[in-house]
Amino acid sequence: MLTDIEPVEILTVIRERRSVRNYTDREVPETAIRSIIAAGIQAPTALGLQPWQFVVVRDRNLMRRASDYCKPILAEKIQEESRPETEEFLAALRNPDYSIFYNAPVLVLVLGARDVVSSVLDCSLCAENMMLAAWALGIGSCWIGSAALIQENPDLVSALKIPDDHQVVAPLIFGYPAPLLPKPDRREPRITWVP
Ligand SMILES: Cc1cc2nc3c(=O)[nH]c(=O)nc-3n(C[C@H](O)[C@H](O)[C@H](O)COP(=O)(O)O)c2cc1C
Repeated sequence: MLTDIEPVEILTVIRERRSVRNYTDREVPETAIRSIIAAGIQAPTALGLQPWQFVVVRDRNLMRRASDYCKPILAEKIQEESRPETEEFLAALRNPDYSIFYNAPVLVLVLGARDVVSSVLDCSLCAENMMLAAWALGIGSCWIGSAALIQENPDLVSALKIPDDHQVVAPLIFGYPAPLLPKPDRREPRITWVP
């Protein structure tokens, strides 16, 4: 993990970033969250429309409510698929103590404008910038796709102040990493050179 005092090289950050699912209790300062969002909005967007908004959630009770809402829905969906590789996740979802947010101190929802056709692509690029910037600051992250289900719950939508004209594209958690697992290996890319 890199620290915020060393100059960091972008290819090192890209190579070393990994999803963090185990966090310390240390809070992430507001300045760091602002720096991460500032990096996010440097992403390219179709037609330069920048169709995003951000919701920063530091209320652990609200994150717990959101997780508790998503867990049984996810468990049901996963059970329907019945694949052996999802058994461990299914068991975790049935554990009352498990949080889909891994007890991270911050959740940032990257919201995309519904009336911009490219907003999912644009917000995804923004999200990757944010995760890389976080890593460069010594902060871990993980995209929690499962959390997009919160949009189906009007009470959560209202508590999270998600406007009607925006959708949740990237729910991202951030925090200082506790001991890390090794990064999953990448398959060799299939590359076709023409000519
Ligand atoms: C669109 C998307 C959705 C994801 N959803 C989840 C999720 O709900 N829970 C989770 O633990 N990780 C989630 N991840 C993280 C991936 O599991 C992770 O990126 C992948 O296993 C590769 O590992 P790495 O990020 O450490 O390189 C998601 C990643 C992406 C891009």
